[in-house]
Amino acid sequence: MNYIAQLSALRVSKDKQFDTGKWVTNEEGEFLRGLCIEHKVKRWVECGTANGGSTLWGLLGTLKITDSPEILTWDILDRPKVWDIEYFKPLKRHINYHIADFSSVEFHQSDKRTAVFLDGNHSKEQVTKDWIAVRTSLKQGDIIIWHDLIMKGVKTTYKKANEWHQAAHQEIRSRRGIGVTYIE
Ligand SMILES: C[S@@+](CC[C@H](N)C(=O)[O-])C[C@H]1O[C@@H](n2cnc3c(N)ncnc32)[C@H](O)[C@@H]1O
Repeated sequence: MNYIAQLSALRVSKDKQFDTGKWVTNEEGEFLRGLCIEHKVKRWVECGTANGGSTLWGLLGTLKITDSPEILTWDILDRPKVWDIEYFKPLKRHINYHIADFSSVEFHQSDKRTAVFLDGNHSKEQVTKDWIAVRTSLKQGDIIIWHDLIMKGVKTTYKKANEWHQAAHQEIRSRRGIGVTYIE
């Protein structure tokens, strides 16, 4: 067993607390991990930790690039976390988990190549606030990943952000839809 196999197994386990059917699927997780590797991401900034499944997919990608990635994740609700399962505990030291509203955080630019993963409340108003919180901190080479592009509020904000950043972008037709904004 390795972390990827173990994480994938969790999603199809009988333990429903780790698979709502709406959160990042294994296929989407593999995509997130691959994106981090391809773009040499060393910093993962996430809105919507939930159980930490997507956080671990991002972390497993960044660990292919650096031994000391910066993993920052926010949620307004505290829930059981995958990194508290015995097998994943060695990964916990990499994760900075905050219980707070992502859109109230003051973000500053980092030298590290950053992937922002937006997967909080999917209303247009809230996704817009989440994006506004990070947008001026982003630099060339960073990416924004939008989960649940099938939701109208997410899709509308994704399109608006692509125009605002004048960014290349890509839509992935996964179960919930993923959008990627490439900051140039
Ligand atoms: C769709 S779930 C995230 C699923 C997770 N990313 C995964 O796939 O493993 C959305 C989460 O966003 C959280 N959330 C909602 N509004 C938020 C906000 N303003 N800041 C941070 N988290 C928020 C919710 O509590 C919920 O746990």
